[in-house]
Amino acid sequence: MADASVAPRSVGLLGAGVIGGGWAARFLLAGVDVRLYDPSPTAAEAVSGTVERARRAWRRLTLAPLPPEGTLTLVDSVEEAVAGVDLVQESAPEREDLKRALLAQAGSAAPAGAIIATSTSGLLPTRLADGMDGPERFVVGHPFNPVYLLPLVEVCAARETAPDTVQRVTAMYRAVAMRPLIVRHEVDGFIADRLLEALWREALWLVADDVATVEEVDDAIRYGAGLRWAAMGTFLTYRLAGGDAGMRHFMAQFGPALQLPWTHLTDVPELSDELLDKLVAQSDDQAGGRPIAELERIRDDCLVAVLRGLRGTGFAAGEVLALTERELYERAGSRIGRPPLPDGRLRLHETLVEPGWIDYNGHMTEHRYLEVMADSTDAFLRAIGILGPYIDSGHSYFTVETHIRHLGEARAGDRIVVATQLLGHDEKRLHLFHELRRDEDDALIATGEHMLLHVDRSAGKTAPTAPEILAALTDISAAQRELPWPEGAGNQVRGPRVGAA
Ligand SMILES: NC(=O)c1ccc[n+]([C@@H]2O[C@H](COP(=O)([O-])OP(=O)(O)OC[C@H]3O[C@@H](n4cnc5c(N)ncnc54)[C@H](O)[C@@H]3O)[C@@H](O)[C@H]2O)c1
Repeated sequence: MADASVAPRSVGLLGAGVIGGGWAARFLLAGVDVRLYDPSPTAAEAVSGTVERARRAWRRLTLAPLPPEGTLTLVDSVEEAVAGVDLVQESAPEREDLKRALLAQAGSAAPAGAIIATSTSGLLPTRLADGMDGPERFVVGHPFNPVYLLPLVEVCAARETAPDTVQRVTAMYRAVAMRPLIVRHEVDGFIADRLLEALWREALWLVADDVATVEEVDDAIRYGAGLRWAAMGTFLTYRLAGGDAGMRHFMAQFGPALQLPWTHLTDVPELSDELLDKLVAQSDDQAGGRPIAELERIRDDCLVAVLRGLRGTGFAAGEVLALTERELYERAGSRIGRPPLPDGRLRLHETLVEPGWIDYNGHMTEHRYLEVMADSTDAFLRAIGILGPYIDSGHSYFTVETHIRHLGEARAGDRIVVATQLLGHDEKRLHLFHELRRDEDDALIATGEHMLLHVDRSAGKTAPTAPEILAALTDISAAQRELPWPEGAGNQVRGPRVGAA
């Protein structure tokens, strides 16, 4: 969702399994219309389940306003799926003969300007393009599961692919919040699956040789290196392992170990019935009877947590999310999205109380109140025009004082709706009051009063706000003129004081 102007208007998806369903969800949530063909009678149900999972994940991933969803049309043939689309994305089973025939059929039926992409995990694109009309518009777009959450998509050209095709498809993927990685050489398995394959082979050996169970192998990844990988990958991680002397020192220390028998790597364990039975039994033990749908939900929640965490650092996939949010907010514009409440207060923010927000008392933990209020303040700032370009110019508002009153309990799953009142403003100051209510019964949960100062970040001091921001504040203030001073505003914390009589 980086630049809506280059997003495809509609896409034709061929195959709606794990990956095709994931593509459907990613495009639909980005506002792109999807035409989908899959011969399986269960495809429609599976896709609707995947789209629902994706909606849930994105609701948790960001508060930024997503565009109106695209329309999903299920069709009965390849020709209908590719009719009039800007991009065809094939995600049929990983068999070269099947894919080649399907891609040739799509190539003949799709509009001349449409890009034809395949999700293949590692088949060589030049072989897949064999026999296709217009092979210059064919390209690999290899995504990762779940496609609706993971940003990476490897883009690899075939021998006859036009450079313009790579550029256009890259822009289209970026426009749906992905991070294309151009694979410059046509190699089996591209970049990511070569790495994953190496790890996978060694993991199979460890289980085959009874060195470790499947669960022990997973633990060896997820409690250690896996956490580093999300931020730093392999090379940056090892640079740090070399200390101040960096990569040269790391290689001096661990380079000789490359000669030691630390890996089987190029050998492949024989996939005997015995090994298969062992893998399946251990994997069943590890899953502990939890169905796939439950594990998918856990996976999505964990990925959302990682992505949101990385967003705070602006690093790796966090940068993609931060850019996506910025773009979404800019696209939504500085207009105040929802109509104000009948009394004139602004309704700019609402949120769901997440299970992870609950403390040992069973209700929303303290700092989440501030988070909801800070998100409401951000929504107010966006509404008056404090958006990317304004912030880039070095200007913004900083909160300098906050007073929260905790008045009710919010429990997991409650929807909280915030009403915002502008208590006052001048050229430099902004005085806001938020009231948090539970949507279901209108119970008052909390109020927050906040003083913000307009700052020039480069000068490091307060500065008058821009005339257009001041005008927006004046408009809101005029619209709220008749509102009473809210109960609790201007209060101090009262209580026993040391030394008081
Ligand atoms: N599963 C992954 O983690 C993953 C990741 C990246 C890429 N891929 C690649 O994506 C592609 C699909 O993999 P998947 O995991 O979604 O497989 P899948 O088995 O879950 O889905 C394949 C779908 O294709 C449908 N299909 C079969 N013949 C078809 C035809 N002629 N036309 C249209 N649809 C047809 C099937 O009914 C099925 O729904 C493969 O090329 C795979 O290598 C998979």
